[in-house]
Amino acid sequence: MSSVRLRTAREDDYPTVASSLERWWDDRPVMMMLPQLFFRHFAATSLVAEQQDHLVGFLVGFPSPAVPAEAHTHFIGVDPALRVQGVGAQMYLAFFDIARTNGCDAVTALTSVGNVASQNFHLRMGFTALPAPDGGQVWPDWDGPGQHRVRFRRAIRPV
Ligand SMILES: CC(C)(COP(=O)(O)OP(=O)(O)OC[C@H]1O[C@@H](n2cnc3c(N)ncnc32)[C@H](O)[C@@H]1OP(=O)(O)O)[C@@H](O)C(=O)NCCC(=O)NCCS
Repeated sequence: MSSVRLRTAREDDYPTVASSLERWWDDRPVMMMLPQLFFRHFAATSLVAEQQDHLVGFLVGFPSPAVPAEAHTHFIGVDPALRVQGVGAQMYLAFFDIARTNGCDAVTALTSVGNVASQNFHLRMGFTALPAPDGGQVWPDWDGPGQHRVRFRRAIRPV
């Protein structure tokens, strides 16, 4: 694999991300959860991965404006042709540094209940699933009626 480089996201990355988003998510209807505002207002703490100037991955994340010392990953995706080659991990390690630099001591993430690949990926990245009120891992209706989620948290060492 030729080298993959990371850089800070820009608003003008959005059309490229949007054009492949649902294919990367196995045709699931996720577009409504990633409107352009994320690439306008949170670009400075988000990342894209490029290979030969071609966008092959992105991570949208931000330090929480309201929850002290917590950063949140809203979306992370890698081109299906480059999966399980370390690109997602490379982006997460860089985001952990961004979170530390912003004074955070934890990173959180969510996955849909059926997205077992993402759950396994997050576990490999050192996240743990937060116990739901019933003691299991599924937070019912977390993102609205019927939108159940698995919530993850990973502690990061402060700078
Ligand atoms: C989840 C996703 C971002 C992972 O990216 P990736 O570049 O393939 O992940 P990496 O190669 O960096 O893998 C990091 C670790 O996770 C593991 N991993 C990655 N995908 C995995 C999978 N599907 N099942 C089990 N483990 C997996 C890798 O084996 C690796 O483990 P290691 O440290 O033991 O080597 C990618 O599969 C993807 O874009 N999926 C579709 C979008 C999505 O669901 N995003 C997450 C929800 S927002």
